[in-house]
Amino acid sequence: MEWGMANRMAQLIQPDGHALFLPVDHGYFQGPTRKLEEPRKTIEPLLPYADAIFITRGVLRSSVDPDNTKPIILRVSGGTSMVGKDLANEGITPSMEEAIRLNASAVGISIFVGTDYEKESLLNLSKLVDEGERYGIPVMAVTAVGKELEKRDARYLALSSRIAAELGARVVKTYWCEDFGKVTRGCPVPVIMAGGPQVDTELKIFEFVYDGMQKGAIGVNLGRNIWQSDFPVAMIKAIRAIVHQNTTPKEAQELFGSEKERKLKKS
Ligand code: 5RP
Repeated sequence: MEWGMANRMAQLIQPDGHALFLPVDHGYFQGPTRKLEEPRKTIEPLLPYADAIFITRGVLRSSVDPDNTKPIILRVSGGTSMVGKDLANEGITPSMEEAIRLNASAVGISIFVGTDYEKESLLNLSKLVDEGERYGIPVMAVTAVGKELEKRDARYLALSSRIAAELGARVVKTYWCEDFGKVTRGCPVPVIMAGGPQVDTELKIFEFVYDGMQKGAIGVNLGRNIWQSDFPVAMIKAIRAIVHQNTTPKEAQELFGSEKERKLKKS
């Protein structure tokens, strides 16, 4: 691996081999997602606990100060919306030149395996990898399921993740699922877990993050289950403890509880 690529990967994946990415890119197709209506207010308190943020150029420029030192993973696919015909019909949005100008440490693109736009999204990934490799910028592939959340099973996610790795993604972001080891075993590059829509209890989140880490994920790219919580800082601290300190779900729940109490006492 060349120096630039190795250096950017080291910015993203911490010396313990693990990583906590904070995604705040949802508005690129969902508009003002709940609790991300004013991105700066959501992002600022959480930034100290994230290893990198996954973000679009518009929210980066408007809502993150340039003296921020956290690595940026720039969302570079889009062109569709929740109310449009097909979420899978994405193109590449900012160019690699723009990613370099914004000092991105990586770029992220969704792929839509099994959809009418499978081929286009996979060729977009491949083209982006060609450009990223030219400039030493890693590509994170996102195995998107659009509105079909039921697709999140080991067979489908293993298929999508492996295809992303085969096409050259340096990191694959996918969902946790039952039998998650099937996904990580079949994917020869680091796997990061997304969260999906908000889950009803914190413990369920801690349990799936812990299980995924035991089964080979290197970390998370977890958004709504952090910043849609009533106690987002407590959430990110608890999840960070699982990712970087191998804290058990029970211990994470205790940590969450004590952080929540501290916050309530202050307010
Ligand atoms: C949305 C994304 C998000 O980065 C990804 O889904 C992670 O966020 P969440 O944990 O909220 O699902 O790709 O476009």
